[in-house]
Amino acid sequence: MKAIILSGGKGTRLRPITHTGAKQLVPVANKPILFYCVENIVQAGIKEVGIIISPETGGEIQDVVGDGSRWGISIKYIVQDIPGGLAHAIKTAEDFLKDSSFVMYLGDNLIGTRIDGFVKDFNAKSPEALILLKEVDNPKQFGVADVTEEGKVKQLIEKPEVPPSNLALVGIYIFSPRIHEAISRIKPSERGELEITDAIQELINMDCRVESFVLDMWWLDTGKKDDLLTANGTVLDEWLKTDIQGEVDDESSVFGRVAVGKGAIIKNSTIRGPVIIGDNSVVDNSYIGPYTSVGEGVKIVNSSVEHSVIMNGSELLDLERLEESLIGCRVKIHENKTKHKALRLLLGDDSVVEV
Ligand code: DAU
Repeated sequence: MKAIILSGGKGTRLRPITHTGAKQLVPVANKPILFYCVENIVQAGIKEVGIIISPETGGEIQDVVGDGSRWGISIKYIVQDIPGGLAHAIKTAEDFLKDSSFVMYLGDNLIGTRIDGFVKDFNAKSPEALILLKEVDNPKQFGVADVTEEGKVKQLIEKPEVPPSNLALVGIYIFSPRIHEAISRIKPSERGELEITDAIQELINMDCRVESFVLDMWWLDTGKKDDLLTANGTVLDEWLKTDIQGEVDDESSVFGRVAVGKGAIIKNSTIRGPVIIGDNSVVDNSYIGPYTSVGEGVKIVNSSVEHSVIMNGSELLDLERLEESLIGCRVKIHENKTKHKALRLLLGDDSVVEV
């Protein structure tokens, strides 16, 4: 069994963060989302992984992820020249996949379970496809499955106007090599993409066995700001362990599960976990509230921050209360101390500011 992780695409929904970087590298609990995907695949015993990259952000992904040796696996990079759809990505990876069965993992998906059980199940039952489903409130935003009472998949539709059910396709799939034949038979959708939902539907039309499993644990597609903050909160809540490596002075109080990285300094502050603070960050005379991830080399002084992701090298000074915010790298936010309370902003394209 091999695996491909899809890390191409444009990442338009997380702009402006993704103007300068790949969305799959945005951190959740201070670790790139893509690393959670790789680790889940490694835990399932898969050692040959291909990462689909776009020409625009592929270089950065290769630099951050490397050749896989840190996980004891081999990672090959496969450039998809255009974001032609998830089935187009498989087509691009045909030389790498050859006649192997494979896991396809979307590089912006996080799930609260290991995938090794699904891989074992697939190997034992040998269907042509195994798909994961999850009940959602907003099925129109996903691929949706219509299933019989016994759980047999009747039909799959991508982002339907009128969803036949509330069962969304989770971005983790396992395929036999017959998926290549199904892909060769489909045409691009109205949005111009070769859709994986159409390819799986084609497998069903070809009388192939498509198994499904409905997840009862959490699944998060991190494509938008609020989803990303939810993912950050969920991962901190479920997986963070207390680990204080930096310095916490006597005037500071730490409650709940809190991780403080090497060289970080917490002075005269209150930290209420779950919170992670990266290496070499400084928190001075401040409050950091639950569900907050502070990256490396961040400075937070005389401020209060909660339920937020603050990425590397940013500075927050004299902020009365910052919450539910996603702050990119090297951003500076300072209170305006003059009597004249004007806002002075330098914001990139697609920024969102609530004042
Ligand atoms: O998250 C689950 C959903 O993912 C499913 O319910 C849908 O059926 C499936 O089509 C997909 O929908 P999205 O609209 O969320 O897909 P998105 O364009 O965000 O792409 C998902 C990942 O695949 C993302 O990491 C980028 C990558 N990608 C995307 C395209 C279109 C590629 O590598 N190549 C591509 O051509």
